[in-house]
Amino acid sequence: MKYSVGILLSAASSVVAQSAPVIGKGQTGPLKVGYFEEPGLPKHTVYMPIDPPAGTKLPILIWGNGACSGNGTLFGKTLLESASYGIFSIAMGTPKGGSSTSGMNSDKSPLQEQALEWIEKNAGVGKYANLDKTRVAAAGQSCGGLETIRVWEHPLVKLIGVFNSGELNVSKLTLKITKPVFYFLGGESDIAYKNGERDYKQLPATTPRWKGNLPVGHMATWSQVNSGKFGKAMRLWLDWQLRGNEESSDFFLKGGAKADGWTVEMAAMESLPKVTPIQSCKVGTAC
Ligand SMILES: *[C@@H]1O[C@H](CO)[C@@H](O)[C@H](O)[C@H]1NC(C)=O
Ligand SMILES: *[C@@H]1O[C@H](CO)[C@@H](O)[C@H](O)[C@H]1NC(C)=O
Repeated sequence: MKYSVGILLSAASSVVAQSAPVIGKGQTGPLKVGYFEEPGLPKHTVYMPIDPPAGTKLPILIWGNGACSGNGTLFGKTLLESASYGIFSIAMGTPKGGSSTSGMNSDKSPLQEQALEWIEKNAGVGKYANLDKTRVAAAGQSCGGLETIRVWEHPLVKLIGVFNSGELNVSKLTLKITKPVFYFLGGESDIAYKNGERDYKQLPATTPRWKGNLPVGHMATWSQVNSGKFGKAMRLWLDWQLRGNEESSDFFLKGGAKADGWTVEMAAMESLPKVTPIQSCKVGTAC
């Protein structure tokens, strides 16, 4: 008996070795998911489907945390939920990290730059053969939204997601952004509401933009199971804009978001680039 307990303990401790994935529980999508530390990305946390069916293609999100936090699991709920529908994410900060990554008043986003460099070299190659670097979105919450818009011009970034965020004093970078921007704000009680609303209006007239407000404030529904309505909006956004699933566009274009309580505005959406669909994920089939 004693021996078998000893063997079980040593097996368990090898499972929690640093690079083994921490497996997600309770996501709504068809794929098993987890997060882990990738040696090539020492300041980040990677979220992805674990052993998805062969041939599965994975678009990519780079994610900046609220408070520009270096805690790579701070938004783990929403990143695992999106992964369960076939999205690979790189969050800023390590799973055990805590301090700030760049900061509110910085004009640089070094961790986002590192993530994009890593994608350039590794997506489509070797054990990351299923990553598709032609499908990359950058997004973040609050301070993470500020980190995100600083890398909008990077050639790999196809579109931007700004969650509970807006530029601090006046719109600056926003005036130049020509790639599609999606705003997800928490209504008037969101400390970033005024700035996000102002930025939305200050984008170049031809920039495709969508904005939703759900009256839940700055911390939104991030801490709920699978990040609640914000988590749902995020995974539908990525499913539509990175995987090309037209069904998920209904949420944005045909009243799905309104039915969930969002107040929606959009403009120049006719210029939104068409995304070639990849098979939607289902249990047991490549997607
Ligand atoms: C990081 O965030 C997660 C999720 O909110 C939390 O459980 C954990 O304690 C945080 N870690 C640190 C080092 O702050
Ligand atoms: C922005 O405004 C805040 C006060 O709201 C001020 O402390 C800060 O210095 C300003 N930053 C810049 C870059 O102008």
